[in-house]
Amino acid sequence: MRIEEILYTQGFGTRRVCAGLVQQGLVRVAGKVVADASDDVPVDGLRFTVQGTEWAYHEKAYLMLHKPAGTECSQKPSTYPSIYTLLPSPLRLRPNKGAVQGVQAIGRLDQDTTGLLLLTDDGQFIHRMGSPKHHVPKVYEVSAKHPLDDAQVAKLLAGVVLDDDPKPVRAAACEIVGPLHLRLTLTEGKYHQVKRMLAAVGNRVEALHRSRIGALALPADLAPGQWRWLGAQQVEALRSARPGQPAEGLDR
Ligand code: URA
Repeated sequence: MRIEEILYTQGFGTRRVCAGLVQQGLVRVAGKVVADASDDVPVDGLRFTVQGTEWAYHEKAYLMLHKPAGTECSQKPSTYPSIYTLLPSPLRLRPNKGAVQGVQAIGRLDQDTTGLLLLTDDGQFIHRMGSPKHHVPKVYEVSAKHPLDDAQVAKLLAGVVLDDDPKPVRAAACEIVGPLHLRLTLTEGKYHQVKRMLAAVGNRVEALHRSRIGALALPADLAPGQWRWLGAQQVEALRSARPGQPAEGLDR
C-alpha cells in the first residue's frame, strides 16, 4: 500500500497531511526515512514511526482500555473527562468510509465504574458484541455497602425486577468473594444494571469494577488509564463467544 494511504488509514490526518508528513522526512520504516509519499510498503506486520512515535499498522483497530474512575464513555462528556482523551490521536482520527470517526467504546461503563472496556472501529464487531443473540458474559467485582449473604445471592440468581421492566433480570453467576465483595456475571447490559440489581436485594454498590469480558480478563499490568491492542486470537475469541461458555482462557 502507498505510504500516504497507510498513514491516512491509520489516522494520521487527511491524505494531503499524510503526504506532507512523508515529504518533510518525518516518516520512517525500519529506521529509514521514506523518500516518497507514493512509495509502496507491505502492511503485513508493518511498524513505522511518525515524528519519532512508533505505530503498528492495524487494518481494523481492536483495543482494551483500563477505564479509570471519573471518566465518561462519551465523545461529548457532560461532567468528567472523556475516556477518548486517554487515547492517542490516530486512534481518534481513524477514517471510516471517508469520514473521521475513530474508535468507539463497545457499550458504556458509568463514570465511577473502573475496569475493562473494549473499543474498535469495526462497526460489525460492535453490532455483534451488542446483539441479544450474542451476549458475552461480563464479570463485575462489586464492593457492597452492606454485608453479603446467601439470600441476596439466591435472589440475584433467581432474577430481580428493575423499575423500568417487569421482566426479571438475573445474574448468570454470582459468588461471595469476601464479606463486602461480590463477583457478579451478567450477559446483558441494561442501564446501571449492577447498581440497580444490588439495590433490588436491599444492598448498595460502593464501587464497581469490570474484570472480564468473555475470555478476556483485564491484565494485572494494565494500569488505570492505559490501553493495549487486542491480538487476533483475543478478537476471534470474543467474536465467537457464546453465553454460558466458561469465562476462562485468553487473559492476554
Ligand atoms: N452496571 C452498572 O450499574 N454500572 C456499570 O458501569 C456497569 C454495569
